[in-house]
Amino acid sequence: MSNNKRGILDMNAFDASSQESIASPLLKRRTDNIGAASVLFYKKPIEMVSARGCWMTDVAGERYLDFYNNVPSVGHCHPHVTAAITQQLETLNTNSRYLSEITESYLEKLKSTLPPELKNVVMTCSGSEANDLAMRIAKTNTGSQGFIVTATAYHGNTEYVTQVSPSALKHGVCPDYVVTIPEPGSAAYGDDIEAGFNQAVSGAIALLTDRGYGVAALLCDSIFSSDGVFSDPAGFLKSAVDTVHRAGGLYIADEVQPGFGRTGDCFWGFQRHGVVPDMVTMGKPMGNGFPVAALVVKPDLLQNFCDDVGYFNTFGGTPVAAAAAMAVMEVIEQEGLQQNAKTIGLYLRQQLTLLSKTDKRIGEIRGAGLFIGLDLCDPGTGEPAAQLAIQVINGLRDEKVLIGAAGPYGHTLKIRPPLCLNQKEADFFIDAIKKVLERLAN
Ligand SMILES: Cc1ncc(COP(=O)(O)O)c(C=O)c1O
Repeated sequence: MSNNKRGILDMNAFDASSQESIASPLLKRRTDNIGAASVLFYKKPIEMVSARGCWMTDVAGERYLDFYNNVPSVGHCHPHVTAAITQQLETLNTNSRYLSEITESYLEKLKSTLPPELKNVVMTCSGSEANDLAMRIAKTNTGSQGFIVTATAYHGNTEYVTQVSPSALKHGVCPDYVVTIPEPGSAAYGDDIEAGFNQAVSGAIALLTDRGYGVAALLCDSIFSSDGVFSDPAGFLKSAVDTVHRAGGLYIADEVQPGFGRTGDCFWGFQRHGVVPDMVTMGKPMGNGFPVAALVVKPDLLQNFCDDVGYFNTFGGTPVAAAAAMAVMEVIEQEGLQQNAKTIGLYLRQQLTLLSKTDKRIGEIRGAGLFIGLDLCDPGTGEPAAQLAIQVINGLRDEKVLIGAAGPYGHTLKIRPPLCLNQKEADFFIDAIKKVLERLAN
């Protein structure tokens, strides 16, 4: 079993240098066009041609249940979202420097889901841009430069945000002004995750102070997705957030993955922890695939930043972006998707827990709503089983289920289907994983 810390994407991606399946003309064109930046899921990549609801269809007409992708959160190609985008695109699409009814209506709707302190919204095109801006605002307002993140965090792709994304740094470590702390699980902190995590944050603050940076912010994905999905006990973030505030730092809640009802209990992941962030960043499911993201922020923090530098984003907050995002909110409400995430998510966790009783390769099962992490382990030693995770991912693909993994060793299956998943589809997944695990046992 190999437990090196290579990301699962690397381990299970198509390897162009192998030339193994370069026979496909489309694959060759892709490799020629995109070069080293091309990363494709699976050793044998799939060409998708259409999708609807929780299902995607490939060029050969095979249908796959999508448990991978939390962007088409209300269902692939949802007709209400498609219609809203099309209608607005046929009417007006311009930058955010004109008055726009649809934009203000959307922002009011969005804010109604958030704590009242968070009164201002800056719309961007990606979660990376939102986090980059949040970090700059934190630095300006605190006069400090230090950031605290978890050890396998991912927060985006700009230069600044890459520095606080240890999971993206293939060779190096984070710079001196970034301190990483272990993910908030029992492996790192034992039974009292809240106390352990708080202590780790206190230690990180002390280190940043010693190094002369001070603490600008604690930046956390509210469900610690790339760390391997850590959700419980609800409320464990509270002490750490209080500690950061006492030290003069800010708390940025990265909701790019857990936001928009996915955790079932609440609309936002941080709400499960009973904390009020100074800034919230969001993206991925916000437009169900249309590129829209945002930073929501306390007004004084934004004011201080804007006194110093301007911020403009050409494609951020266009009327079409607002129409897409508004339609997503409407679907979540009208189809009761947050409640569905809670109900079906619970059902999935129960079924997986049942399975774990008879299969020692299944370790911890964590998560909330339709965001579940399932550890695959060596049944003898309990060690993370990354190679087994790759086999399961590829076995599930054969069973027509698409899924990914996370965590420092890539041994945590990341279960993250669209929020409209129904029980029949949940059962399809359970049957598939049972079959795959049985096959791999023989
Ligand atoms: C937790 C988290 N934050 C931020 C980002 C960056 O978002 P984007 O890819 O839209 O820039 C991601 C993307 O995977 C993410 O998972």
